[in-house]
Amino acid sequence: MKITIVGTGYVGLVTGTCFAEIGHDVLCVDNDERKIKVLKSGQMPIYEPGLEEMVHRNVASGRLKFSGSIEEGTAFAEVIFIAVGTPPGYKGQANLSYVEQVGRKVAEHMTGYRLLVEKSTVPVNTAEQLKRTVAKYSRSDIDFDVASNPEFLREGCAIDDAFKPDRIVVGVESERAGKLLQAIYDPIVKKSGCEFLQMNIASAELTKHASNSFLAMKISYINAVSRVCELAGADIEQVAHGMGLDKRIGPRFLDAGVGYGGSCFPKDVDAFVHIADHLGYDFELLKEVQRINHSQREHVMKKIQHELWVIQDKTVAVLGLAFKPETDDVREAPSLYFIPQLLEARARVKLWDPVAQEKFKELHPTLDYYSDIVECAKDADLLLILTDWPQVKGMDLVKIKGAMRCPVIVDGRNLFDPEDMKNRGFTYHCVGRA
Ligand code: UDX
Ligand code: UDX
Repeated sequence: MKITIVGTGYVGLVTGTCFAEIGHDVLCVDNDERKIKVLKSGQMPIYEPGLEEMVHRNVASGRLKFSGSIEEGTAFAEVIFIAVGTPPGYKGQANLSYVEQVGRKVAEHMTGYRLLVEKSTVPVNTAEQLKRTVAKYSRSDIDFDVASNPEFLREGCAIDDAFKPDRIVVGVESERAGKLLQAIYDPIVKKSGCEFLQMNIASAELTKHASNSFLAMKISYINAVSRVCELAGADIEQVAHGMGLDKRIGPRFLDAGVGYGGSCFPKDVDAFVHIADHLGYDFELLKEVQRINHSQREHVMKKIQHELWVIQDKTVAVLGLAFKPETDDVREAPSLYFIPQLLEARARVKLWDPVAQEKFKELHPTLDYYSDIVECAKDADLLLILTDWPQVKGMDLVKIKGAMRCPVIVDGRNLFDPEDMKNRGFTYHCVGRA
């Protein structure tokens, strides 16, 4: 089938490439000409494991193409996925101006039936507005449908998530739209055996916000328990393990640390609170989830302050700029909370990350970046771990200790065993372990 994807970011590019990989003809459109130029030249605007070779393979086979023209995208395919950004608006509600713009432009250019599919995370009832917009700006004799098909791709393992999803959710209000989406996903459903859930549009939209907010809540819950563990002399790793073996709870998303970041959880929880409020429900539970997430960062910052006493003129080596491993994405990353605070307190910061340095440099071009962990740790008064990169977990602790001015580690990801670190001569601070 022919498919157009509008928005060639972390979600759109992965989705489009995976559709091409299963045999569809895909045109990825983006209004960022620079991005399209980069993609056409065979380079990648983002880092996602396995994506580059898959893009090359599908471009070579002619199944994957790029364009800066939404007019071309509208003419290319009957089904158009909208994967543009939905960043936070001025009060935390989702900013839907890009989604609206795409709807308007598709409406202006379409000459026959089109199915517009919301892929970006949007508040419940966005499809209603999208439908009104398309109806307003299109010719009245042209038929169209709007659908919701939320993405559940985790950055860093997005390709795996696309091919082996836990479920595929589509929200439709016509048989035609349902059949088109079923045909698109059929190869993935057959191969992975996952469920293809068809529901009404509002339910599909809500499933996304409810899922992400639930996962964020799980993280805030374990972070809150980690604070009690510190006070009670308990170990959060053991508590989380004990909880996770209960099948009703499950072991995943129970890692305590510096709190959640990324382009989804912070924004989606915020947007869910706002839409619930708008609909007349005060979602206090989620407000608390946000508060705990923020307080967790403050708590780790206090550990740094307590350890260094005076931060001014101290050297802090920061390991991990990305919001999670295996991505170059720094949106809402813990690093963007800690590093400005350290700089404000006049510390010298040395930064290490295997793939996110370029993206971080766009925001902080003049800081000291290192490609070698031991070099980064050299002469540091404190080493701060913010991302659970395997390279950090596997770093040579003897060399690190030898390189540092003072062997002090504040580990925001609980990567090491406190007893072992003590035996190795480190002053080791982590989260939720006495
Ligand atoms: C997006 C949404 O922000 C998020 O809500 C959703 O859950 C996943 O999809 P992501 O793919 O990570 O997230 O965003 P980003 O990497 O910023 O990509 C969005 C792309 O849309 C950018 O390449 C941008 O240039 C493009 N865009 C934006 C358009 O093509 N047209 C527009 O009008 C606006
Ligand atoms: C999320 C959703 O998981 C995914 O389904 C999709 O909707 C997009 O948003 P993503 O943001 O890419 O994916 O990463 P995820 O693995 O969910 O991690 C989000 C944040 O939570 C990261 O900062 C991560 O470090 C943190 N996290 C995760 C924890 O602090 N503890 C955990 O146990 C799990």
